[in-house]
Amino acid sequence: MTRPKTMTTTAGAPVADNQNSLSAGPRGPLLLQDYQLIEKLAHQNRERIPERVVHAKGSGAYGTFTVTNDITRYTKAKLFGAIGKETEVFLRFSTVAGERGAADAERDVRGFAVKFYTEEGNWDLVGNNTPVFFIRDPLKFPDFIRTQKRHPATNLRSPTAMWDFWSLSPESLHQVTILFSDRGLPQGYRFMNGYGSHTYAFLNEAGERFWVKFHFKSMQGIKWWTNREAEQVIAKDRESAQRDLYEAIQKGDFPRWRLCVQVMPEADVETTPFDPFDLTKVWPHADYPLIEVGVLELNRNPAHYFAEVEQSSFSPSNIVPGIGFSPDKMLQGRIFAYADAHRYRVGTHYEMLPVNRPRCPVHHYHADGSMLFEIPDRGNAWYEPNSFGGPVEDPRFREPPLRIAGDADRWSHRVGNDDYSQPGRLFRLMGPAAQGRLMDNIAEAMQGVPLEIVRRQVAHFHAADPAYGLGVATRMGLDERDLPSAQAAAE
Ligand code: NDP
Ligand code: HEM
Repeated sequence: MTRPKTMTTTAGAPVADNQNSLSAGPRGPLLLQDYQLIEKLAHQNRERIPERVVHAKGSGAYGTFTVTNDITRYTKAKLFGAIGKETEVFLRFSTVAGERGAADAERDVRGFAVKFYTEEGNWDLVGNNTPVFFIRDPLKFPDFIRTQKRHPATNLRSPTAMWDFWSLSPESLHQVTILFSDRGLPQGYRFMNGYGSHTYAFLNEAGERFWVKFHFKSMQGIKWWTNREAEQVIAKDRESAQRDLYEAIQKGDFPRWRLCVQVMPEADVETTPFDPFDLTKVWPHADYPLIEVGVLELNRNPAHYFAEVEQSSFSPSNIVPGIGFSPDKMLQGRIFAYADAHRYRVGTHYEMLPVNRPRCPVHHYHADGSMLFEIPDRGNAWYEPNSFGGPVEDPRFREPPLRIAGDADRWSHRVGNDDYSQPGRLFRLMGPAAQGRLMDNIAEAMQGVPLEIVRRQVAHFHAADPAYGLGVATRMGLDERDLPSAQAAAE
């Protein structure tokens, strides 16, 4: 039998005894010179990094994206370059509001963050399992998230805060309707769709710009729990989604999603009856049909949860040639927020970690800072411009200019915006049983909320569809006379 390797300290010194600390006499006290004990305790003290301020609880896996359809007329992005082309990915799923120890089977939006390790850099599509979001101006994001977290005094989640904010923010109605519908409580991460949600840009070789939305359609089908079923799941297993994903991949039952896009010619933004950059709206399929692009398969579990899942760092600012941003104000806010969070949460050089590291060469001039664990090979070219052959810019990667217009101002995102038609359409496409469950779930979540707030919110449901408003009102013990006219709610 071969002898196991000798254990060492982090500095490489052999450890003679890993069972007993160094003490003066058998009963102690301990000696300060026991640097091996100190190293162990000190390392343990530093085992946690700050949890993500949102989406703290998650699960991740590696996989492959394979192109099945040619979309090169819309984008020159190399990962879409040829049918059959494969790109390695890492996907992290998450719940949004709960802390790192929260139960998986809670009613909440799910994160769907994909890192494509392309040959021209990492492309991060940091989406959710919903095609829309609660707000449309990033200035409201910290306020909205506060309502999902704990009350400062009670340290309890507060339905009053949630419904107060939502009822004062009619743009949230579409997402609220999805959240309380069947899709708001998926049976696991394999059984939900993913959406890039925002409008992004595609840029082709000819320099033309298209607007694009990304959809991942679950090939496992959509499966959801009722609230009662989820209570039973949580009572037995707080890690139900992690377990489901991990075990499926371990036994070779690899989950798959069909990636589809909706594409809009650049000039259409002048004519659509809705703002195509508004994150609270979808693009109707009838106007912008789904075009299949490829299949994403998850086929490898991470070997180390902390190293790979906890330290994985996604940012909507990570784009590649052929994919660009849109004017969507929310996207613009997110372009700042994520890398800033990573520099704080993980460390300055977080992109050098194996899970985050691009699979192509990187050549930049950033220097120093925490976690610089490789010596940059720059010679005398450690600033730019230089005369020593350092990397230089390449104008071939310039994007075509984007025409924008208007005065700089704090423009109201509410003026002239229809917050009711699309939620109404969604309500009507559900069958009567699904509508009933939606309204039951809402009424359950509104228990204990002050009447004034309930009435204000019911007016929004009513404006989307009278049956929606009436159904919730009745469940909350209100009657028809409590319902304002749709007109009044819309004002
Ligand atoms: P369509 O009838 O063409 O599309 C309806 C979509 O609704 C389908 O993609 C379906 O997903 C999805 N859906 C069904 N039940 C739910 C639910 N409980 N929660 C969320 N989505 C659900 O109509 P439109 O394109 O005109 O859209 C109508 C409404 O459908 C929208 O207002 C929006 O709320 C919702 N929707 C639209 C999407 C879009 O990109 N157009 C995307 C997702 C939702 P599936 O194919 O998996 O059954
Ligand atoms: C995580 C900010 C809106 C999806 C995060 C994090 C921040 C953040 C700071 C934590 C990042 C980290 O520590 O690693 C914001 C802001 C938003 C916004 C400021 C609006 C202005 C959205 C929207 C979506 C989304 C609209 C989906 C369409 C996610 C996902 C994660 C996340 C999936 C987790 C990523 C992961 O798995 O690591 N967000 N967010 N966010 N956000 Fe947002």
